[in-house]
Amino acid sequence: MRIVDIIEKKRDGNSLTEEEINFFVEGYTKGDVPDYQASALAMAIYFQDMDEREKAAITKAMMYSGDTIDLSEIEGIKVDKHSTGGVGDTTTLILAPLVASVGVPVAKMSGRGLGHTGGTVDKMEAVPGFHVEIEKQQFVDLVNNNGLAVMGQSENLTPADKKLYSLRDVTGTVNSIPLIASSIMSKKLAAGADSIVLDVKTGSGAFMKSLEDSKALAEAMVHIGKELGRQTTAVISDMNQPLGYMVGNALEVKEAAYTLRGDGPTDLTELCLTLGSHMVVLAEKAKTTDEARKMLEDAIKSGAAMEKFEQFLDAQGGDSSVIRDLNRLPVAEHTIEVTASKDGYVSEIVADEIGTAAMMLGAGRATKDSEIDLAVGIELKKKIGDAVKKGEPLAIMHANNKDINNVSERIIDAFKISSEAVESPTLVYDTFS
Ligand code: URA
Ligand code: CA
Repeated sequence: MRIVDIIEKKRDGNSLTEEEINFFVEGYTKGDVPDYQASALAMAIYFQDMDEREKAAITKAMMYSGDTIDLSEIEGIKVDKHSTGGVGDTTTLILAPLVASVGVPVAKMSGRGLGHTGGTVDKMEAVPGFHVEIEKQQFVDLVNNNGLAVMGQSENLTPADKKLYSLRDVTGTVNSIPLIASSIMSKKLAAGADSIVLDVKTGSGAFMKSLEDSKALAEAMVHIGKELGRQTTAVISDMNQPLGYMVGNALEVKEAAYTLRGDGPTDLTELCLTLGSHMVVLAEKAKTTDEARKMLEDAIKSGAAMEKFEQFLDAQGGDSSVIRDLNRLPVAEHTIEVTASKDGYVSEIVADEIGTAAMMLGAGRATKDSEIDLAVGIELKKKIGDAVKKGEPLAIMHANNKDINNVSERIIDAFKISSEAVESPTLVYDTFS
């Protein structure tokens, strides 16, 4: 078999066999296939797409390109959740203790990764002492005893995806449905989940800007899950503005705590209840999403969700008392308002731009080795549909550096202000399973 023949076959719009896909993925992982051939194939896939069988095959090949995690020692149905990338997306931090508090085992492998703000692990490290460097056996025991644990990701999970994703990033081939779907699903499957709930973002701040493309991505992932024997539900949710009000690490921990105790932002709370309900149903702890939702609402009201959060932080070395006394989380030195330049209604808050602004303040990593400042970030004061007067604050920057003029300009540009009244956007557009 020769890679050049595989490239030409895909270039001409034909379907690749499982053998051909395996030959490419294995060869690329080992370093036998050079980047230039892999990028030519990625571009051919970008233009010619893949059929359902090919998508399942490339997912499986990438899933088995490195370690796979065996969670069978953990009792019950393990349901994992994944978001296709949002800004200020605090849902994992909330959902993990929330669903665990109603009996869904949460065994999460989490990475740090690049991004506008840190990953879930970075955010949790805003709680003093909390750490994810635990052994596999301790991880299993914690989930069996407490219902919830988070462990740092193994270095060798889906190396094929790691390589291919970095290559796509610099060759204009990120935005391809078969490549995104297989990339995400290979990681979830390798991490050992029995069932998966996907939050597919749509809108200006998402990979998929149109609802149609978002639906196609959701359907592709649900189908891959089915082919590979894991039940998968995908929810399409709005990313025409950041979720909630906080974008930053300690800021999002604060927002997660508010939400778990029942006074979180409406959109964030609603999305967590929606995604959480599907997780509870997939874990077979409720028959319908209505029943599941009621269980989750009760767990918030009774304080069980908050208690689960504290128990989880304590079990992994964290000082959970900060969750009751949120002023003890890291705080930035300066808070600076960004104000509106005219009267009107907020019609859009370009999430990517807010994310980039947060990263410029130091909330995220520009490169793998950058240090994150847990205290900094952006607090939105207005959301889509809100009326605003000239001079009123749109957002507050939490900064440790005074040189932030370029950051405030970005935030102002991110806020689109219309002279006519605007409705707040739909939060959940569709569900596939
Ligand atoms: N997230 C991933 O993990 N992979 C992609 O290709 C896109 C988003
Ligand atoms: Ca948020």
